[in-house]
Amino acid sequence: MSTAAKTTRVLTGITTTGTPHLGNYVGAIKPAIAESQNPDVQSFYFLADLHALIKCQDPGRVEQSRLEIAATWLALGLDTDNAIFYRQSDIPEIPELTWMLSCVCAKGLMNRAHAYKAAVAENEAAGSPDLDRGITMGLFGYPVLMAADILMFNANKVPVGRDQIQHIEMARDMAGRFNHLYKSQYFTLPEAVVDEKVEVLGGLDGRKMSKSYNNTIPLFVSEKKLLKLVRKIKTNSLEPGEPKDPDTCTLFQIYSAFASAEESAAMRRRYAEGIGWGEAKNELFEYLNAHLREPRERYQALMEDPGHIEAVLRKGAERAREEAAPLMDRLRHAVGLGRFI
Ligand code: TRP
Repeated sequence: MSTAAKTTRVLTGITTTGTPHLGNYVGAIKPAIAESQNPDVQSFYFLADLHALIKCQDPGRVEQSRLEIAATWLALGLDTDNAIFYRQSDIPEIPELTWMLSCVCAKGLMNRAHAYKAAVAENEAAGSPDLDRGITMGLFGYPVLMAADILMFNANKVPVGRDQIQHIEMARDMAGRFNHLYKSQYFTLPEAVVDEKVEVLGGLDGRKMSKSYNNTIPLFVSEKKLLKLVRKIKTNSLEPGEPKDPDTCTLFQIYSAFASAEESAAMRRRYAEGIGWGEAKNELFEYLNAHLREPRERYQALMEDPGHIEAVLRKGAERAREEAAPLMDRLRHAVGLGRFI
């Protein structure tokens, strides 16, 4: 089926500042890869590397993260004949659209963006006389760039975490304003999709697994490192033989995010029977290791072949630009920047 014939367009971006971890896999990568296999859906997945510059000015880190994230998605089985998989920075129409949207977006709307408000609140709490201290235009205008990502491809659905819902609403707002001002339905109004069933995994210290808490288990660390990290997961002081509560246990939560319903039920019984923490950790390690072994090997092979990843992403960008370039042409005419003849 051609791109145009598929009814629903699903789009999401991954900011390229970190190394993919188990929480990213369960919360975002796994559901995205599953969705891309739905024949009624055209999915657009991209490395949000222009967004990365807002948070990270270490070029080595941005470069490495782009490669790691691309290799991860490919190693986990993303079918790039089906999904359109690209780098944001390969699509020059995106920054161009960002500018057009900036010119219809109220500054007041951006003043209300959570990320900006949080940065201002931090300055306030620190007693800084300049509330905008350290805040770049990149951070301030972040929702406009994100709106351009989404509107460029007329995405219908945008799977995101809760913290991103406001950005999708802002994209709708900008789309509506542009359509109204230039008197045509140039843009589809996107909808945020927050999957309530998708689990938020706990990390080494029991808080949400997140790069910002430095408590993650990267997906493709070596076997040795994986064992070491699993052993670090915080548990309580109950002794072997004492019954334990799986529902408040990070080990069990991670196990059940990967295991089948039957396997989880069996593990639940072992908690009731008083499995020791050492044993529970060994079981979790064995399970994860067995399931990650194959993709880990594919990941390592991909990391050693950046030329292949480059080719896949360029092909993705080409397909993405087949969509972006004609729309951009229409938009240029709409605003009065079309060619004279
Ligand atoms: N801002 C998103 C995040 O931090 C990443 C992102 C960038 C994105 N552009 C997007 C997500 C467009 C969805 C659609 O998670």
